Amino acid sequence: MPQGPGRVLIFREEIAVRVGELGHAIAREHAGHVPLLVGVLKGAAVFMADLIRAIPAPIAMDFMGVSSYGPGTRSSGAVRLTADLSVSIEGRDVIIVEDVVDSGRTLDYLRRNLETRHPRSLRVCALLDKVERRQVDVSLDYVGFAIPDRFVLGYGFDLGGLYRGLADIHVLEDFPEV
Ligand code: IMP
Ligand code: MG
Repeated sequence: MPQGPGRVLIFREEIAVRVGELGHAIAREHAGHVPLLVGVLKGAAVFMADLIRAIPAPIAMDFMGVSSYGPGTRSSGAVRLTADLSVSIEGRDVIIVEDVVDSGRTLDYLRRNLETRHPRSLRVCALLDKVERRQVDVSLDYVGFAIPDRFVLGYGFDLGGLYRGLADIHVLEDFPEV
C-alpha cells in the first residue's frame, strides 16, 4: 500500500460505510428502473468502482472526462470536455457520479450539457462536498461527506496526477496553494 502525505481525513472504513449507504439510497430511489451512472473522470473512478458494487440492484455505467484543474491545488475555472459518453442518455435515469464539488463549475457545466440530451431524470451523487467553496449554485442529491476547504488526496483524488491510489482520503496541512 503506498504511503501518503499529510494526515488522514477520512479512513477507508468510514468511506466504505458511507458508500454502502449511498448505494442503498440509490437502489431504493430507482426501484424498477435501471439508472445510468455517469462517472466523471478521472477523480471519480475509484468512488465509482466501489459505488456500483454497493448498489443492490441493476445499474448501467458510463464515463465522461472533464478537466478543470491545472497542475496545482486551485481550479482554473475553465471546464473542458476531454471524453464524451459512449451511449445515448435520452429517456434514461442518469446519476452524475462526482468525486468532489468545489466551486460547482464542473457540475454546472456537466448538468447543462447532459440536460440538452433529454434524460428522464438527472441526479448527482458526490462523494465530497466543499460547501464553503461554492461559487455556482448546484443541487446535490446524494453526498458522502461535507468537508472543510482543504485540498484532499487519495481514493481517486490527485495532486498533479499522483496519489490517486491511496486507500484513505488524506488532507494536505499547511500546504502552500500553488
Ligand atoms: P469545481 O469545478 O470547482 O467544483 O471542481 C471540481 C473538480 O476539481 C473535482 O471534480 C476535482 O476533480 C477537482 N478538485 C476539487 N477539489 C479537489 C481536492 O481537494 N483534491 C483533488 N481534486 C480536487
Ligand atoms: Mg472531478
